[in-house]
Amino acid sequence: MLLLMNGLYTPIHLIANSPLTGSIADVTNSAAWEELMHATINGITLAYSDSGAGLPIVFLHAFPLNRTMWAQQEAALSSQFRVITVDLRGHGESDAPLWRYTLDQTAEDVRALLDHLAIQQALFVGLSMGGYILFAFYRKYANRVKGLVLADTRAQADTPEGKEGRFQMAQIAYKQGPSAIADLMIPKLLSPATIQSRPVIVQQVSAMIESTQMSGIVGDLMAMAERPDSVPLLKQIACPVQIIVGGLDQATPPADARLMAEQIPQARLAIIPNAAHLANLEQPEAFTKIVAALACELA
Ligand code: MLT
Repeated sequence: MLLLMNGLYTPIHLIANSPLTGSIADVTNSAAWEELMHATINGITLAYSDSGAGLPIVFLHAFPLNRTMWAQQEAALSSQFRVITVDLRGHGESDAPLWRYTLDQTAEDVRALLDHLAIQQALFVGLSMGGYILFAFYRKYANRVKGLVLADTRAQADTPEGKEGRFQMAQIAYKQGPSAIADLMIPKLLSPATIQSRPVIVQQVSAMIESTQMSGIVGDLMAMAERPDSVPLLKQIACPVQIIVGGLDQATPPADARLMAEQIPQARLAIIPNAAHLANLEQPEAFTKIVAALACELA
């Protein structure tokens, strides 16, 4: 695996000697690593988990998934860091109110959850929609951000065709239900090899999508369609930033990751081979090691 650091590609093993206690494989099978909690935030109930101690790392999930997509990262990293995963508004076990959604509002939920947990600053990890939310969060609360991991995401706003695609997807969700969204999205989220030969991952992703409420799916589609262009923000991001992308990601391809790496002053880029959009699920050990390396620097 290659990392782009200050314009140079370096092998991942040079920076990713595991700082974790025990191997990642040892802890991913543990069922006892987390406890689900709830907080009333901005008039709704948010479900989250909070495990471990040390530097807080807050994980924001992709669309239309939930916090359980981070299970392997949480299990591995909570031996050394305080790991918070949250079901964003509209997802998982959090409330999914039937109303207008915006990414600014979701960023407000994250800020309120940090206040609830008495966390002043954290390392944030956002994948895809989670990354879009981190741009909204950084615009308002840069002082709460110690570092960012922007994974399989992009800074650009939707194109007109992209917005039209969101509208079409909302109609499919409304008429045919979340399982039609799962059928539509799985080929965009996972690599062909994973779809063919790793049924557990496919089932996990399908189950997350199928359990997402309609109000959350449609609300997020509208919120993502309306999000602003974050490219002008990139040069202003002053904290250390790790960008990660699956080499096979077609939803937010490596070219989008390179654009962010070129514009953000303190950015480095890791391209994970044999992973598509959900790089943290398809290559969990590689993904976790990259996050751990930045967390160790910031701790
Ligand atoms: C995601 O994974 O969060 C979505 O693919 C983001 C998007 O649809 O732009």
